[in-house]
Amino acid sequence: MEKQRGSFTNKLGFVLAAAGSAVGLGNLWRFPYLAAKYGGGIFLLVYLVLAVSFGFALMVTEIAIGRKTRLSAVGAYASLNKKFGFLGYLSCLVPFIITPYYCVIGGWVLKYFTVFVTNQVSSAASDDFFTGFITQAAAPVIFFAVYAAATALVVMMGVEKGIEKASRIMMPLLIVMTVIIAVFGLMQPGAVEGVRYYLMPDFSRFSATTVLAAMGQLFYSMSLAMGIMITYGSYMKKDANLEKSVRQIELFDTGIAFMAGLMIIPAVFAFSGGSEEALGKGPSLMFITLPKVFNSMQFGTAVGAVFFLLVLFAALTSSISLTETLVSILMDKLGWKRRKASIVVFVYLLAVGIPVSLGFGIWDFIAPMGMSLLDFFDFISNSVLMPIVAFLTCIFIGYVVKPETVIEEVELNGKFRIQKFYTIMIKYLAPVCLVAILIFAVMEAMGAISV
Ligand code: PHE
Repeated sequence: MEKQRGSFTNKLGFVLAAAGSAVGLGNLWRFPYLAAKYGGGIFLLVYLVLAVSFGFALMVTEIAIGRKTRLSAVGAYASLNKKFGFLGYLSCLVPFIITPYYCVIGGWVLKYFTVFVTNQVSSAASDDFFTGFITQAAAPVIFFAVYAAATALVVMMGVEKGIEKASRIMMPLLIVMTVIIAVFGLMQPGAVEGVRYYLMPDFSRFSATTVLAAMGQLFYSMSLAMGIMITYGSYMKKDANLEKSVRQIELFDTGIAFMAGLMIIPAVFAFSGGSEEALGKGPSLMFITLPKVFNSMQFGTAVGAVFFLLVLFAALTSSISLTETLVSILMDKLGWKRRKASIVVFVYLLAVGIPVSLGFGIWDFIAPMGMSLLDFFDFISNSVLMPIVAFLTCIFIGYVVKPETVIEEVELNGKFRIQKFYTIMIKYLAPVCLVAILIFAVMEAMGAISV
């Protein structure tokens, strides 16, 4: 007999919990650096189009599968069709790849919080402060380990609820802070150029890589193609409006990503000149740009400290949700106790995260496909595994269990307003686009390598 599954007590509770998991470093750290790197406005446009079409369809699908089967990913796919059970396992692979490096970045955020609390804002604003930090051997590893330990401890003690409660105050505060910082940044000389870059699409920068990057970001930011939303759906009440909930989660998630871009990209123009090199910094962009903003602000130390504390919180809620997923897979599949599973996951996080951290310094000779280890893991999960999971999910829903199954589940409560579009999306548009993008991106990568 399956145990009675708990449900969220109210409808907003579901949206807030799912949004709390969705909003994290993906929105604040990853989105701005990708948008900066991939042409600003064109990336934003592609992202928005994908979010309302493809992202929407995929999130509806995952939540509906979860709510219908009342199971998390591993069980859910298998219960709909035995042959597709492997898809559940495949999607669980993603959080295994993401979580360790997520915690490495969590460690960087923790470091920056301490930097601001100890009033070192002017040194943090210098150009090589960040590189100086991540290329060290011990310091970044220690910050990572502390961050990962905090995450694992919360999961081990099962006190996520407390964290979630606190995040209901922290999240709105984070939004307010982001707006304030963005407005301040926009008033700096040179920022207008950045606003133009961020908001006006330059179609000559459009390429398959832009679409692949935007799509990977969509998965990452909305916690899609990794089984997470299936789990959330399995806790959703039958009388909650699924379509509306998805719309709210998407709006929230995309709104915060958009604001984070507005906070960072114009500031890159104002403080670092907006050159190709300044915009292409990748994972370090937020850590290089924001201290410069705070340094030129009155009370910048305090503002920076509060800001990084809030980012830390947003990151923690996400890494907790990711770690909880890993722990519950081990508990369900191997019958382990929470304590044992949490400890094993923590050791795993260290085993993979330490090389990722060292990969920026003394171990930088490890460079698979010419990338840093962090970029490599990020690439494998977001640009390879997630599109494959998404593609197989579309095939599975479109042709094996049929879109009607999902539509019925959505219509348990209210009309599914865009069901025609949904069917076309899942059966034809999404799978064809996914394959095309993957092929183009591989060709581009090979071209880039052979040049
Ligand atoms: N979506 C989160 C972010 O944007 C990352 C995440 C993925 C969190 C999966 C939980 C589960 O940072």
